[in-house]
Amino acid sequence: MPKVLILGATGYVGRQIANLLVQSGQHTVYGVTRTPAKAKQLAKEEIIPIVCPDPVNQPGPYLDIIRSKHVDVVVDVAGAYAGSYRFLADVVSVNKERMAASNARGVQTSKLGYIYCSGTWVHGSSNEPVNDLDIVGDGAGTLPEELVAWRVGVEKAVLQASDVLDIMILRPALIYGRESTIWTPFITPVLEAAKTGAQNVEIPLDAQSRPGLIHVDDVAKAFVRAIEKVHLFPGTGVYPVFDLVTSQESMRDIFNALSSTWGFKGGVELKGHGGDLFSKAMCTNFRGSSARAKQLLDWQPTRLNGFVQDMDIYAAAFVAEHIE
Ligand SMILES: NC(=O)c1ccc[n+]([C@@H]2O[C@H](COP(=O)([O-])OP(=O)(O)OC[C@H]3O[C@@H](n4cnc5c(N)ncnc54)[C@H](OP(=O)(O)O)[C@@H]3O)[C@@H](O)[C@H]2O)c1
Repeated sequence: MPKVLILGATGYVGRQIANLLVQSGQHTVYGVTRTPAKAKQLAKEEIIPIVCPDPVNQPGPYLDIIRSKHVDVVVDVAGAYAGSYRFLADVVSVNKERMAASNARGVQTSKLGYIYCSGTWVHGSSNEPVNDLDIVGDGAGTLPEELVAWRVGVEKAVLQASDVLDIMILRPALIYGRESTIWTPFITPVLEAAKTGAQNVEIPLDAQSRPGLIHVDDVAKAFVRAIEKVHLFPGTGVYPVFDLVTSQESMRDIFNALSSTWGFKGGVELKGHGGDLFSKAMCTNFRGSSARAKQLLDWQPTRLNGFVQDMDIYAAAFVAEHIE
């Protein structure tokens, strides 16, 4: 039964991955969290909690589990930003120890698998078709969004670790569904305006933007596929980087659908990102493809109606999650 350790297991994405792994009955799942309260939440979901108050600077508790339980795959879906360099370096060290111990015993052992969650914003914004074989960062047609420019370096470090670890990088597009966390600062004002009957609400997003999107369930399914395949690709020449996207939709249509669902009679003015880096990243145009993920990971996304078409369901889920 493969053992998987998830950094960020309590998060929006991490929780879905962990639950899907548990439901498969094929995996023992360890979830790292910084707080005892969230550890309890993990235990309720049959995920083995590892409380590690500062995984970036004091990784001892989770590294001990990788060592003592002989974990097979580590997944980084934590929101630790550049802390991901540290996670990678620490897991590389543990794997080197493991290899040295095996060599000393004169036996072979498999490398640790390592899957890093990046995001399609590293491609930058463009109306041209893009895929995961296109280079990102220096020399690419478009620069990464400033908010995530650091991420190109983390991806490079993960790719360079392939001599020590079996690695993979998954890049989800902008995620929607269930709690739709990342949308909170933009869609909450529309809900408030609908409740108060305001005339108008201004949202710092570009009306003309066309983000690439994906439902959180399909992201989790792709990670499960990646966990199952991470040991299979090394040595095959497959570039282990996969963009995950299932639709490209108009920001104007998304907010029209929200207004209509919540019965907001006033106007939603998408006034532009105004230079705010987060708002600007949300407006990244992404005409991407996940053909390689479907072909090579055998990933079959199923939440394919899109954000706009089923907005009534997503809007209701958002209210249930975020509004008292
Ligand atoms: N949401 C999207 O649309 C989207 C799209 C593409 C890529 N991504 C990427 O996917 C990853 C996960 O995103 P998410 O939306 O699931 O984030 P999230 O809901 O904020 O969850 C991240 C989890 O990471 C843990 N964490 C936060 N800071 C940490 C730190 N400094 N050290 C260790 N753990 C830390 C937290 O767990 P505890 O509090 O329990 O420790 C938290 O539950 C991120 O790298 C994000 O950039 C997200």
